[in-house]
Amino acid sequence: MKKLTIAIDGYSSCGKSTLAKALAKELNYIFVDTGAMYRGVSLYAIENELILDGQIAENVLISRLPEIDLSFEFNEKEQRPELLLNGKNVEHKIRTLEVSQVVSQVAKISEVRSFLVDKQRKMGETGGVVMDGRDIGSVVFPNAELKLFVTAAPEIRADRRFKELQAKGEDVNLEDVAANLKERDELDTSRKESPLIQTDDAIVLDNSNLTPDGQLELVLKWVGRIQNGH
Ligand code: DC
Repeated sequence: MKKLTIAIDGYSSCGKSTLAKALAKELNYIFVDTGAMYRGVSLYAIENELILDGQIAENVLISRLPEIDLSFEFNEKEQRPELLLNGKNVEHKIRTLEVSQVVSQVAKISEVRSFLVDKQRKMGETGGVVMDGRDIGSVVFPNAELKLFVTAAPEIRADRRFKELQAKGEDVNLEDVAANLKERDELDTSRKESPLIQTDDAIVLDNSNLTPDGQLELVLKWVGRIQNGH
């Protein structure tokens, strides 16, 4: 069976990673969460005090990119790949609201993007990959055999992310989470460098009223059709 490249793009907190992870498991493909990589660079900037008064010291960060090593290790217990930043597991640290609040600024720096896009292309060069992000179908793998553009109603996305952060013990409120999502949507879609766009060949998947299993079942049907040449 041909190993496909599957690109999953969409807004923040719309269930892209949940879908990508389940799909990769089902198909025995590699799963790459590219948002985790942008978050890893953001955490590096925070930990190295490259953020002053909410502003990134862009040029310093660019000059330090060669010092940033990002990789994934599979956590058997959680059944997911986790991000390593310079050899240290930072999976928990990159998911905090603090990181979410700077990541869009980091993601608009073109040098950061090309640094990460190179790595992402290498990770997926053999095919058999499910990659999720904002520019996978448009920039990283424009020839992907299956491109999905995932979306869900804003209030549903905010509620999902709020519950996720709460479950991790973060002290957050729904309004802050909703405001952060709205701000990231605006920044992600309006930035000059590789904005989030829906490519003409992408299938739109609105999962507002779908369960994770329902969404997976639907996408597996589409994968099957492509593999059978339809
Ligand atoms: O998917 P996420 O919410 O973890 O992504 C974090 C941020 O990284 C998001 O605000 C936009 C940015 N991002 C990006 O610009 N390009 C990608 N391919 C993935 C994420």
